[in-house]
Amino acid sequence: MKKFLYGIDFGTTNSALAIYDETTKEIHSTIIIPSLIYFFHQPSTARCSNYVVGEDAITAYLNDDMKGRFIKSIKQVLSRNSFTETRIHNKRYNASDLVAIILKELKDRADQLIGQDCGRAVIGRPVFFDDDDVKKDTLAQTRLSKAAEIAGFADVRFQFEPIGAAFAYEKSLQKRENVLVADLGGGTTDFTYLVLDPEKVGSKDRQNDMMANGGIYVGGDSFDSAFMWEKGTPYFGKNTQYEATPGKVLTVPKSLFANICSWEQMNFFNGLRIKKDIEDYYYFSGNDPQFKNLITLIENNLGYSVFQSIEKAKITLTNADTATFGYHKMDINIHEEISLADYEQIIGKDVDRIANYLDGFMLQNGIEPQNIDSLFLTGGTSMVGSIQKLFKKRFPHVSLNSGDNFKSVAKGLAYSGYLFGD
Ligand SMILES: Nc1ncnc2c1ncn2[C@@H]1O[C@H](COP(=O)(O)OP(=O)(O)OP(=O)(O)O)[C@@H](O)[C@H]1O
Ligand SMILES: [Mg+2]
Repeated sequence: MKKFLYGIDFGTTNSALAIYDETTKEIHSTIIIPSLIYFFHQPSTARCSNYVVGEDAITAYLNDDMKGRFIKSIKQVLSRNSFTETRIHNKRYNASDLVAIILKELKDRADQLIGQDCGRAVIGRPVFFDDDDVKKDTLAQTRLSKAAEIAGFADVRFQFEPIGAAFAYEKSLQKRENVLVADLGGGTTDFTYLVLDPEKVGSKDRQNDMMANGGIYVGGDSFDSAFMWEKGTPYFGKNTQYEATPGKVLTVPKSLFANICSWEQMNFFNGLRIKKDIEDYYYFSGNDPQFKNLITLIENNLGYSVFQSIEKAKITLTNADTATFGYHKMDINIHEEISLADYEQIIGKDVDRIANYLDGFMLQNGIEPQNIDSLFLTGGTSMVGSIQKLFKKRFPHVSLNSGDNFKSVAKGLAYSGYLFGD
């Protein structure tokens, strides 16, 4: 019987699985799904499951009038010890249970393609799940291991995601090179600096080729959150004033709006106590119509659809100088032209954090720009103009290479079979 190995890139936004055929030593095929889960509003015995995963999650969420539980960016929860579990349809789900749903979906689809149950996988992980905190990092990896076990993987190894990306790039090289790889995803930006050599593809000893790894908890989600904060929240009443006591007028607390800017909060909003506070602010604001939009957003679970509009504007701006941020649902009406200059300013702080991290990474690891032979950028966020500019500015003498922004990591992980040592 043929032997296979899976390379799995469980991403904040997208998850991919590459099937590696150990006989031909080639990738057999690759599957990619958005890392989304939708739990139907009403559980039903007519369905075989109370949730749907991937693309179907978006369709089901929309068909269900957005009333059920929509779970996005679940990877960000892996390192949070404040998150223990959530209750959906009277069943408890911890972080591993939720992640396992995505891993199992990928495994089932892949097993079907190869006609066998493959329990061997190299699973990617960011260099740091969270900002450089060992305890959180260990928690995240333990949870991810558990998720793999629940999903049916018996034999698992972990590999840094940017090393996965590097191995995918290595396949395209003609000669040995010192390569700086940057993987800019939805949740994190990861770097690796290593020697790549096309003659070493699949070889067992790669330890000496790795020169440095690092990463920062900033990615496309951070850009979307910054956008929501600057351009979205004013439409949801960020500047609303209310009468705290007779004659004393205050602005509603900004902290309320942090919740609608972050997926971590948004995923589990239903349980938050602040709903009652929000109703009080609305009343004492004299029924401010913008603030009403916040209530409409929360009560109708519109978060994901608002973020879809934000992402659409971001993607338009990778090829254009202006984009429309438009959202029209229920009583909420947003229509605003956003210039590229505006956008670059909104994400400026996050881009600076990436730039500063990169400078520190180069310095700490003694990497001289002139020693880098090539740059490989991957991940959806690598397409953002400010990011491209950042790398061109730092390394004007090296060309920017890119591959498949969404599948490179999974493919390279599948080339990491050496980790099994057999
Ligand atoms: N054309 C585009 N231009 C700009 N950004 C994009 C584009 N397409 C996708 N993105 C962004 O890329 C991110 C997803 O990229 P990717 O699939 O590489 O992340 P991920 O692997 O799921 O995340 P991570 O590696 O951080 O866990 C999202 O933030 C998405 O909005
Ligand atoms: Mg990724």
